[in-house]
Amino acid sequence: MTKLRSVIYRSKALVEPLSNEEQTLMDFVLLENRKLGITGFLVRNGDEYFQYIEGKERVIHDVVERIRRNPLHSGFTMIAEDSPEERNFPRWYMEYCFLDEEEAKQHFKTGGSDEDLAASVLQLMKKKAAKRGEVGFRCLK
Ligand SMILES: Cc1cc2nc3c(=O)[nH]c(=O)nc-3n(C[C@H](O)[C@H](O)[C@H](O)COP(=O)(O)O)c2cc1C
Repeated sequence: MTKLRSVIYRSKALVEPLSNEEQTLMDFVLLENRKLGITGFLVRNGDEYFQYIEGKERVIHDVVERIRRNPLHSGFTMIAEDSPEERNFPRWYMEYCFLDEEEAKQHFKTGGSDEDLAASVLQLMKKKAAKRGEVGFRCLK
């Protein structure tokens, strides 16, 4: 079996949260990831995106490059990479959550290392995923 690869990056959003551009993007991402066998989670905290994606190694490499070049965001910075044994988000091609201030305060402490930040982001995503149960796409809280 081909090895799985996962990455987490952060970037600065250049579009409004839940705007038409963002919704169109997420509709596209959902279909594309289904085709490519990619799963993951995208959270937005204010103007910042954090995205976790996982899939076959070669596919992830290509998609990361395409994501990096997308003009809807800037300042793409990888904060973690891994080769997980199994998928963390097997049920979602891509989930999207816009955080409220309280959640942001709990999960995004400033001054930590990239490693701490990535661990905290992943924990938040897993918590959200567990809450969501079987419901499909988009975050209902
Ligand atoms: C925040 C953000 C997240 C994205 N996530 C994905 C993704 O998970 N999968 C994907 O195929 N494209 C994703 N994209 C879109 C890619 O950047 C790119 O537009 C798309 O893959 C099409 O490639 P192309 O622009 O080279 O034609 C994302 C873009 C942004 C801004």
